[in-house]
Parts: sequence; structure tokens; C-alpha cells
Amino acid sequence: METVETICALRERLRGEKAISFVPTMGNLHEGHLELTRLARRHAGCVVASLFVNRLQFGIGEDFDRYPRTFGEDCEKLERESVDILFAPNESELYPVPQEVTVSLPKIAEALCGAHRPGHFRGMATVVLKLFNIVQPDFAVFGKKDYQQLHLVSKMVEQLDLPITVVAGETVREADGLAMSSRNRYLSEAERREANRLYFNLEKTRLAWLSGKTDCRSLEREAKNDLEKRGWQVDYFEIRDAQSLERPGPSTARFVVLGAARLGKTRLIDNLEI
Ligand code: PAF
Repeated sequence: METVETICALRERLRGEKAISFVPTMGNLHEGHLELTRLARRHAGCVVASLFVNRLQFGIGEDFDRYPRTFGEDCEKLERESVDILFAPNESELYPVPQEVTVSLPKIAEALCGAHRPGHFRGMATVVLKLFNIVQPDFAVFGKKDYQQLHLVSKMVEQLDLPITVVAGETVREADGLAMSSRNRYLSEAERREANRLYFNLEKTRLAWLSGKTDCRSLEREAKNDLEKRGWQVDYFEIRDAQSLERPGPSTARFVVLGAARLGKTRLIDNLEI
């Protein structure tokens, strides 16, 4: 695997590549990320991963400073997956001047996670668009774990006519159901034992829905109550239209249940398609 740090060197290296698959990451890689690189490999001969902790998508008081940075281990993992190129720019390479031009997203970016992390998706979409322009991939792979992110990136690609196919990777879970996430390492031992309760409630809601209990509000309330009773602070727990992420309506064909909640200082998100 080659590690490239500058935009200029990356463009030079990628010149002439026939098909490129791209996996953007913020590092601290786990099996979920590695699955995305395997999926990327199935789509193109050249797999590029990026590692950049993007300050722009963190709010004031969020975990930008303590976000786990494990560059050496990440490189070894990507190497083992036969990723061809790692693009690992520093901040001044991606943001040589304050980033004044940003991506404006559809209204749905202000719901769900957007309602609790103002500006997060604008910062995410801005860096993703910059990375897309730098790497110019044919395929870009994003995990379903960040369902709203995947939705917004897909909208951006579609509505800005980017010649990229967005590929969605399934969420990878620990044996007890907890969705893999870089933030899981913030959990204490006791919190880690409790952490799969979010998944438990998503699955319970999904099964209740499938068995014919389709009163969204009551299913959501039940799950929220369960989590809050056990000490979680729930940002949201909602059944939504899987295609638009709006509240389900008469035309909804596919549903998804999404949750975000804090366990101690750690904010976990997860979802299940119904
Ligand atoms: O999902 C992530 O890790 C980040 O939001 C992304 C897509 C790498 C942009 O910084």
C-alpha cells in the first residue's frame, strides 16, 4: 500500500487508473471499515482509502480533540486488506485557508442527527465533496450504520451530477449486536455491557412492526422509555421512510428505524431497515 499525503501526489499517482473505488474514513479502523474496503475491491481494480479527522464536522464541545487517532494500526489493517493507496493529508493540505465554501444540503439534514449536531452534515458533505474532487472515484463506499450520512451523500452525488456510484455497506456488529463504531472505545466496561440495548430496542421495534403493530409513536415511546429508564439520554428513536428519511406517509414503501442516544459521555447511533 502506498501512503500519499498531498493532493498533487495523489492526482499524479491516480492518473491512468481505469476504475477507482474510494472509502473515506476518519481512521481508528474496525471490521466495519475493513468490510467497506472489501466491498470497494469488488467494484474496481484500484482501491483508495482516506484517513482524515475532519474538524469541520465536529461541533463545539464535541470529541474532535479526543477522537482516537491510531495511524500506525490503521495502516497495518489497510495493508492486510490490500488497499492500494491511503490518502492521509494533514489539515493544512485539505484546508489551506479557512473553508468558506461549503455544501448546502436538503432540509432533511436538519432532522435526526442534524437536529442534535448543528452543522455536522454540512461539514461532512463539504469534506466528502472535496475528497471526491481530489480522488475522482468511480465508486464511493459508505456504511449503512451512518444512515443519514449515506442518504445525504447519495443526494449530493445525484443533485450535483457527480459521476460516482455510491455503494452502501451493511453494518457490521459485535457478537451481542452492538454496531461497530470508533466511538465504542470510549465506553467503560459497564457501559460496554449495556451498549447493545440500543440495538435490542431497534430489533424489538422492527419485530413488533413486522408482526403488525404499526403505531409508530407508541413503538418509539416504548423504546425511548426503556432506554431512559436504564440511564440513557435519547436524542431520537424514530421510524422513518427509508427512501426520504421523512416521517412515514401513505406512499412509504420501505421503513427504517433509527436511534441515537448517549450512554455516559458516549453518543451511539444505529438503525435497522424494516
Ligand atoms: O463516516 C465518516 O467516517 C466521516 O463522516 C467521513 C465520511 C469520512 C467524512 O469525514
